[in-house]
Amino acid sequence: MEQKIKAYNNVLELIGNTPLIKLNTITKDLEGEFYAKVEAFNPGHSTKDRIALHILEEAEKQGILKPGDTIIETTSGNTGFSIAMVSIIKGYECILAVSSKSSKDKIDMLRSMGAKVYVCPAHVSADDPRSYYQVAKRMHEEIKGSVYINQYFNDLNIDAHYNTTGPEIWDQTNGRITHLVACSGTGGTISGTAKFLKEKNPDIKILGVDAFGSVLKKYHETREFDEKEIFPYRIEGLGKNLIPSVTDFEIIDRFTKVTDEESAHTAREISKKEGLFVGYTSGAALQAVKQLAKEGTFDKDSIVVVIFPDHGSRYMSKIYCDQWMNSQGFYDDMNNEEVQKIEFVG
Ligand SMILES: Cc1ncc(COP(=O)(O)O)c(C=O)c1O
Repeated sequence: MEQKIKAYNNVLELIGNTPLIKLNTITKDLEGEFYAKVEAFNPGHSTKDRIALHILEEAEKQGILKPGDTIIETTSGNTGFSIAMVSIIKGYECILAVSSKSSKDKIDMLRSMGAKVYVCPAHVSADDPRSYYQVAKRMHEEIKGSVYINQYFNDLNIDAHYNTTGPEIWDQTNGRITHLVACSGTGGTISGTAKFLKEKNPDIKILGVDAFGSVLKKYHETREFDEKEIFPYRIEGLGKNLIPSVTDFEIIDRFTKVTDEESAHTAREISKKEGLFVGYTSGAALQAVKQLAKEGTFDKDSIVVVIFPDHGSRYMSKIYCDQWMNSQGFYDDMNNEEVQKIEFVG
């Protein structure tokens, strides 16, 4: 009898079931145990593979999508990459409206995956006709038979994490998780994962991470959309200048804001201390953990799961580039542990 070939049928079968990895060094002085859900193990190297697959397969089931159709999305890069990957396997055209804040690496990667990419100015309001939201909307209206994923306002984004990320974390911790720390952009990851976890145990604390320059934290605390909170910042994929319907503000216990600078240094620290080459928002998430620990949020019995959304290779021209760090003024704080190790020449 012929031996069975042990292979996946295609790359999409590798989406999800990412590992939970204990953080051993970077959190050693903090009370509690800390585990990273490392989403870079998805084949598209980010958590967004989960939503791309789920949303497109739901659209197929509902008869909205057929091979040859065009998929349109606004994206800081990761969702676009995942949609482009799924589109290749399933035979769709892919058009992406990307913010000019996205790294060149990400934009080049999207084009390498066959997507048509439109780069739109980052620092305009969401209702400005030049914004990536409006550009995507316009193209959806113009291209017959196109499907607009609209990850900020599509409940399937939450469902993808409710169906996969939540159960995986519950299972991997044997139900012992006490705190979830997750970045919020669309809010899909934190809301869907939290929904599953809180149904299992309502005492689990859901800790969102937001950026300075974003409206999410203030909206969570006051239900006021305060435009004065909005200003440009560097971290991609974290925080928002609008209120996504996908974010379930009720289920999130609190938000913590982090700076561009500390998040960048923390990402680099994770790579050096844990051997995990992570993206900018992973640094943001762990930076929030550090701040929360300082405030006494965790104790010796805490089992903290922190989601690391993507891979460091997407940020070679940014946080992993010394010149970029320097140009942002991120090497100015000479008290920073990492800065102290740099040998400045000349
Ligand atoms: C790198 C990165 N981290 C975090 C997030 C936030 O995830 P979510 O949109 O599920 O809130 C995103 C979303 O674009 C992202 O690209």
